[in-house]
Amino acid sequence: MTINHVMVIGAGQMGAGIAQVFAQAGLNVKMNDMSQDALDQGLLGIEKRLGRAVEKGRMTEGERKAITELLSTTTDLKDAADCDLVVEAVVESMDVKVSVFQQLDEIAPSHAILATNTSSLPITEIAAATQRPEQVIGMHFMNPVPVMKLVEIIRAIQTSDETYQAIEDMTKKLEKTPVEVEDFPGFVSNRILMPMINEAVYTVHEGVASPEDVDAVMKLGMNHPMGPLTLADFIGLDTCLYIMEVLHEGFGDSKYRPCPLLRKYVKAGWLGKKSGRGFYTYD
Ligand code: NAI
Repeated sequence: MTINHVMVIGAGQMGAGIAQVFAQAGLNVKMNDMSQDALDQGLLGIEKRLGRAVEKGRMTEGERKAITELLSTTTDLKDAADCDLVVEAVVESMDVKVSVFQQLDEIAPSHAILATNTSSLPITEIAAATQRPEQVIGMHFMNPVPVMKLVEIIRAIQTSDETYQAIEDMTKKLEKTPVEVEDFPGFVSNRILMPMINEAVYTVHEGVASPEDVDAVMKLGMNHPMGPLTLADFIGLDTCLYIMEVLHEGFGDSKYRPCPLLRKYVKAGWLGKKSGRGFYTYD
């Protein structure tokens, strides 16, 4: 199938980056968000990143202009009516995602593929909420999207081979590397990453070491580019807690129990970089 017109729903941290990489690959992209402010901020972020690429000589002014011209914004979901692919990147809530997918199912053309960037929710359940479950799939980008090479492609139990193939081809067109994953809690990325972050929080909680020292051990000793607590602050501690809860519930295994300190930070509103304080403080 040919994919020319794309809509990205949610213009937050992930959505704006996803819209950018589609436009960079030459596709027409509509960014949708229910908040005009989020759309303005998302577009501003893209313009800044493209401007920096031109300054550094990684992109010509002509390329920057062409990419910008492929991007448009809308608060109206009905504008998905001419899209071949929709990628949803709204908040990590099953209720919100199901509502978005049910509306999209009514609006998008019958051939359109509906993808979700969820980091942890079951794709199979999202697919079942539509009349086209075989055209629903997980397309899990990594943060920051323009930089990170991986896209985890998650097959719902209902996803057809044609849908999988179209998304794998598209991922390669975006100059990213696809990895095929079955629909299990946390997929591969967060099943491995989040327990490590949670264990790092336990290490601080139990007084074994300070956040700085935990991060130093993992950076200098394990060659990780960033310590797990710095990474947790970047991802958002609310998101980390949410994913641990999905793993805990999904596997029913106490090894995934979220650390009480992580819960306490989230209750305090210390959500990491986005709120100015997490394991570290930010200006
Ligand atoms: P965010 O909070 O930065 O952005 C979410 C955006 O969705 C907001 O602008 C909000 O206004 C909008 N929104 C909410 N409900 C909407 C609706 N019904 N219709 C249209 N727009 C709506 O969230 P973020 O971090 O971008 O996450 C989005 C998704 O990506 C989540 O499912 C998350 O789990 C996933 N994800 C997040 C990663 C991260 O590092 N933050 C990494 C990979 C996936």
